[in-house]
Amino acid sequence: MTRKADEPLVLGIETSCDETGVGIVRGHTLLADAVASSVDEHARFGGVVPEVASRAHLEAMVPTIQRALKEAGVAASDLDGIAVTAGPGLAGALLVGVSAAKAYAYALGKPLYGVNHLASHICVDQLEHGALPEPTMALLVSGGHSSLLLAPDITSDVRPLGSTIDDAAGEAFDKIARVLNLGFPGGPVIDRYAREGDPDAIRFPRGLTGPRDPVYDFSFSGLKTAVARWIEAKRAAGENVPVADVAASFQEAVVDVLTRKAVRACKDHGVEHLMIGGGVAANTRLRAMAERRCEDAGITLRVPRPKLCTDNGAMVAALGAEMVARGRAASSWDLSADSSLPVTDPHVPGHDHDHDHAHGHGHDHDHFHELSKDNLYS
Ligand code: KG4
Ligand code: ZN
Repeated sequence: MTRKADEPLVLGIETSCDETGVGIVRGHTLLADAVASSVDEHARFGGVVPEVASRAHLEAMVPTIQRALKEAGVAASDLDGIAVTAGPGLAGALLVGVSAAKAYAYALGKPLYGVNHLASHICVDQLEHGALPEPTMALLVSGGHSSLLLAPDITSDVRPLGSTIDDAAGEAFDKIARVLNLGFPGGPVIDRYAREGDPDAIRFPRGLTGPRDPVYDFSFSGLKTAVARWIEAKRAAGENVPVADVAASFQEAVVDVLTRKAVRACKDHGVEHLMIGGGVAANTRLRAMAERRCEDAGITLRVPRPKLCTDNGAMVAALGAEMVARGRAASSWDLSADSSLPVTDPHVPGHDHDHDHAHGHGHDHDHFHELSKDNLYS
């Protein structure tokens, strides 16, 4: 690879939820992936507390950036750009990342790229399996999202085919884990218990799979209720709840629907590559079933390793590097966090495209302070 040295060197910052992630990539090569998680601070609440997450980001930000630079063995001055998750996510948490990215980009005189968290979950696979085929079908399953996305170009063209009409897949895992008293987050622990259980022990409902149901949308709240009722009935009868069997049967229902709809979307759209991303893509049963169903359908499956599936900064850097490589416009200094940034906006170019600001004249400095103040207090 003689081109290596010309490939963009980008630092990415992710703070949309409870992970402070800072990644550094050169093109498709991962150089550093530093993550500081506040998950333990939320565990006793059974879910992420936004204010706690924001404060933890603030404390972790500078040390995590320094750790990533050290791990990558690069100087901040060598970077070709700074990318940051602009949304969707928790508003206050996003704001910490966006403010930090602006400060570093401005101080270093580097272009700033506000990117979409969901597109980043897809683009991260370039670090594992090389350039994304175009188009790629993506099944995005995390604590906040469950969507089927057709991506002809991850930097500029992402089309939603369907999404959950109620709970996200990861949310369903978290809620069932709570009902079973297994702690938070629920995904990894249900995954573990399920390995000891029988996935056919209990036949739980498969949401939105009827002939008249929307083909690419998901629903997990009916399943969640069915599992909770089943557990209650057992407890009311004074019987033991077979945790492993419940976990395995619940997981099977989720994974069955996810993989069935993803393969269907690929077939309907003539797409030969399926990418699965987001925290739930770390699920071992999902990975195995997707592998089998894709093979049967002649679809090439791409799933990043679990550490790249859950929230991290490398995914943001990966999308940022792709933006730089494709000459996409940098974001303006008035970039703001958008907690409901639509998936159709892979990046946020902003209103003014004047990047001379990056070279720091006194006047522009004031301008920057004004804008960041606006963002912080609006
Ligand atoms: O992508 P992610 O780290 O954060 C969001 O953007 O939401 O996803 C977190 C979600 C949580 O709901 C967690 O329970 C779930 O991903 N998760 C899993 C597994 N590992 C994490 N779900 C099922 N099986 C797993 N092994
Ligand atoms: Zn995520």
